[in-house]
Amino acid sequence: MSVLAFAELLYDSEIGTSLRESLFAFPIVEGIHLIGLALSVGLLFFIDLRLVGLVFRHVPIPQILKQLRPWLLGGFAVTMATGALLFVAGATKLIELPVFLWKLAFIVFAGINAAWFEFKWGRNVQQWGYATTLPTGVLVAAWGSLILWSLVVITGRLIPYLSY
Ligand code: HEM
Repeated sequence: MSVLAFAELLYDSEIGTSLRESLFAFPIVEGIHLIGLALSVGLLFFIDLRLVGLVFRHVPIPQILKQLRPWLLGGFAVTMATGALLFVAGATKLIELPVFLWKLAFIVFAGINAAWFEFKWGRNVQQWGYATTLPTGVLVAAWGSLILWSLVVITGRLIPYLSY
């Protein structure tokens, strides 16, 4: 089955059709998408801004990571689930929309960056988290995260303007 044929299957599905035809379903799902965004990327920005030394300098990094990690992972789960629903509602158009494909690419790069941070630094934060000077790799991951997730949000916001 081709990607386009699969997109047509999703678009014509009962979920896709009811999301498009219901007055409230699509905006409610998109609203929850934005709440998930606030809990995920929003909290992640506070961690990144702490890592680059711009906020909460008096709060130890291990404490911030430990307290915020469960909330931001929950936020990402909500954002991804609602994103998938938003995609099903407009699959045939979105699959051919460059800004949507760029958004997915930025999500993949941001995900690789986050996985690298967690694997290389996050799981042994006790070893470097109390130092005044942080490892260069941590700063690269933090700035990379700030830039890549900002690009995800901007390309997400551009979707309704550049489609339909
Ligand atoms: C953490 C990752 C994500 C973030 C930060 C994010 C962020 C956003 C933002 C800021 C918007 C604009 C909302 C508005 O116009 O009010 C948006 C819209 C959208 N997102 Fe996401 N998103 C994410 C993941 C996904 C995923 C994984 C998908 C699909 C596979 C997706 C599909 C969409 C679609 C289709 C729209 C446009 C809805 C419309 O037509 O208004 N998003 N996203």
